Amino acid sequence: MSNDPLLQPFQLKHLTLRNRIIMTAHEPAYPEEGMPKARYRAYHVERAKGGVAMTMTAGSAAVSKDSPPVFNNLLVYKDEVVPWMKDMTDAVHEQGAAIMIQLTHLGRRTRWDKAFWLPVVSPSHRREASHKAFPKKMEDWDIERIITDYADAAERMKAGGMDGIELQAYGHLMDQFWSPLTNELDAPYGGSLENRLRFTFDVLKEIRKRVGPDFIVGVRYTGDEMLEGGLTKADGLDISRRLKESGLVDFLNVVRGHIDTDAGLTDVIPIQGMANSPHLDFAGEVRAATNFPTFHAAKIPDVATARHAIASGKLDMVGMTRAHMTDPHIVRKIIERREDDIRPCVGANYCLDRIYQGGAAYCIHNAATGRELDMPHTIARAETRKKIVIVGAGPAGLEAARVAGERGHEVVVFEVAPDPGGQIRLTAQSERRKEMISIIDWRMAQCEKYGVTFHFNTWADAGTVQAENPDVVIIATGGMPHTEVLTKGNELVVSSWDIIAGDVKPGSNVLVFDDAGDHAGLQAAEILADAGGRVEIMTPDRSFAPEVMAMNLTPYMRALQNKEVTFTVTYRLEAVEKDGNQLIAYVGSDYGGVSKQRTFDQIVVNHGTVPLDEIYFDLKPASTNLGEVSYEQLIAGVPQSVIRNPDGGFQLFRIGDAVSARNTHAAIYDALRLMKDI
Ligand SMILES: Cc1cc2nc3c(=O)[nH]c(=O)nc-3n(C[C@H](O)[C@H](O)[C@H](O)COP(=O)(O)O)c2cc1C
Ligand code: SF4
Repeated sequence: MSNDPLLQPFQLKHLTLRNRIIMTAHEPAYPEEGMPKARYRAYHVERAKGGVAMTMTAGSAAVSKDSPPVFNNLLVYKDEVVPWMKDMTDAVHEQGAAIMIQLTHLGRRTRWDKAFWLPVVSPSHRREASHKAFPKKMEDWDIERIITDYADAAERMKAGGMDGIELQAYGHLMDQFWSPLTNELDAPYGGSLENRLRFTFDVLKEIRKRVGPDFIVGVRYTGDEMLEGGLTKADGLDISRRLKESGLVDFLNVVRGHIDTDAGLTDVIPIQGMANSPHLDFAGEVRAATNFPTFHAAKIPDVATARHAIASGKLDMVGMTRAHMTDPHIVRKIIERREDDIRPCVGANYCLDRIYQGGAAYCIHNAATGRELDMPHTIARAETRKKIVIVGAGPAGLEAARVAGERGHEVVVFEVAPDPGGQIRLTAQSERRKEMISIIDWRMAQCEKYGVTFHFNTWADAGTVQAENPDVVIIATGGMPHTEVLTKGNELVVSSWDIIAGDVKPGSNVLVFDDAGDHAGLQAAEILADAGGRVEIMTPDRSFAPEVMAMNLTPYMRALQNKEVTFTVTYRLEAVEKDGNQLIAYVGSDYGGVSKQRTFDQIVVNHGTVPLDEIYFDLKPASTNLGEVSYEQLIAGVPQSVIRNPDGGFQLFRIGDAVSARNTHAAIYDALRLMKDI
C-alpha cells in the first residue's frame, strides 16, 4: 500500500473514507426542477470514478419554502427528491466513493421575489449587502417550523441513501443566529453565545431524533467572521469545542471569513492572484483545539499543498473542490503516479461567478465538466488515423490539438508567434492573472505526450496548409482588437491589448471606453493606474465589466479604487478629435439628448476582437464541406458529414474567436465538441 499521506483511509465513525481528498459542497446549478437528475448524477459519478473519497453534493440544498435558492439549488423540502437521491447515491457508491449532502436555510441570504414570494427571515431586520432583501425578524413559530424543516430534510436524505449530511453555517440562517451582527433576538435565541447557538443545537437534536445516533452529521461553519463586531477567532474556537462536546456532530468543516459581500465571499473562496491555502493554518488550529475530525477547503488547488495539509496534521480531510471541477480524476492520477497529467485549476472562478449570474457552473478550461452526459473527460481513440492541420496555438487551437492527439491522429500546428497561448499569454502577463498560463502549459505538455508537431514563428497561408496534405484543417487563428467603433477618429485611439502587451506607453489622463465589459478593459485600466495615470472607465451599459462578474471584480476593485480611477456608466464614446497633443472625446448616451466634450491625452477602446479569418476564406473553396458545420451533428455529438464540394481535398472548420469574439471557455468547448468526433 502507498505511504502517500493523501492515500491513507480515514475512519469517520462507521464510514471508511478511501483517501483524504474530498469535494466540499458546491452547487453547480445543474438541478432540473430542483432535483438531482441525470446530469447531476453524471457529474458526481465522474468524480467518484476518478477516485475522490467523498463528494459533498448540493451546497445549500433548501430545507424550507421560505429559503428559495439564489442559484439553481436542490429542493430537499420536497418528498419527491428521495428517489432521485437514491439513484445518485447508489451510482456514486458503486464507484467506491462516499456521498453526503449540505443542507441549509439561507435566512436573509436570498430574495423574497422568488418561488413562493414569502418574506425572507433572519434573527434581525438587517439586510445582506449581496442579496439586498430586508428580512422579517423571526418569531417563535418561524423558529419552530424551520427546526422541523431541517429534521424532515435530514430524514429524506437518509432515506435517499446519503452517508451523511452537513449543515451550512456561514452567511446562512444558522450563523445569522450566531453572529452578534445579525442576531437581535431576545433570549432564549438571542443574547449570550449560548443563546445564539441554541437554534443550531435545537436543529441538531431534532435531526438526531429522526436519523438516530449513527447517521453522520457535520457542520460547515465560519470559525472567525473577520468582521468588526462579528464572531472572533476566540468565538470560533469556543463554538468548535461546543459542537464537538454536544455529541451531536461527527465532523467539523471550517471556513474563515464572511460572505455577505462579494469581497468577503472572495476572501473565503480566493481566486487567481490571491494566496493559496490562506486559511489552512486556521483550520489546523481548530483541529488542534478540538482533536476532532476536521475538513477544510479554500484554494488548495495542487496535490503538493493538499499533501502538506494532511501530512502536517492540519486537516483530516482536504477539500479540492474547484480542482475537481477542472480534473475529476485527480486521485486516480495520483495513484497511477501521473500527477503531471492533472489538469490544473487556474482559479479563474468562471465556475462560481457563473452560478451567481444565474448560469450553470462551467470550468474555464474543461468543457466536459457539467456536460458529462455528452462530453468526455477521457478521449476515445479514433478508428481511423487522420492527418489534422491546425492553424493557431491559442486555447482553441491547443485544445483541438490535444483532443486530436489523444484520439491518435497525426497533428501539425502552425503558429505565427514564437510561443503558444494567444490571448491567454497576453492575459497572463499581468501578475494577478499569471495562473492563466497553466491553461496553455498543460495543453502543451499533453500535446508533447501525443506527439503533436508544432511550427512556431510560422506564418501559414493556404499553400502551407495544403502542402501538408491534410484530411482535416482547423482554423483557430483568433482575432485582433476591434477599435473601429467611432464615427470619427478611430485612428487616434489605442486598444486595451496595446496597453496590456506594453506596445503603447500609458498616458497620464486616460479614458478607457469599455463596451465589451470583459477582463481586457479592467486589466488595461489597472496597468494605466499602476503607471500613475488618472483613468476614467466609461461604458454605455448600466454597469461596468459585466463579463468579469462578481468575485473576479474583487481584486480589480482593490487594485483600482485606491488609485485615481473613476467609473462612468451609461455614456458612450462617439468620436475623437486631436487638439494639439490632447484628444477631445465626444461623449453621448444611448438614452439620447446628451453631447459632452472631454479632454484626455490617451483614449483606449475595449470592444472585443474581429476574426483573423483570411486563411479560412482562402482555403474554403478547396474543402469538401466549404467550411460548413452541421449544427445538428455537432449538437448530437456525431461526426461531421457535410459534403458541398466532392472535389475538395479536406474538411475545413474554424473555431474560437476566429469565428466571432467570445471567451476562453467557448473557444475550448468549440474545439472539444468538434474534435472528439473526428
Ligand atoms: C460552483 C460552486 C458552488 C459552491 N457552492 C457552495 C455551497 O452551496 N455551499 C458551500 O458551503 N460552499 C460552496 N462552494 C464553496 C466550496 O465548497 C469551496 O469551499 C470553495 O470552492 C473553496 O474550495 P476550493 O478552492 O477547493 O474550490 C461552492 C463552490 C463552487 C465552485
Ligand atoms: S473555472 Fe477556474 S476556478 Fe473554476 S474550476 Fe475551472 S479553472 Fe478552477
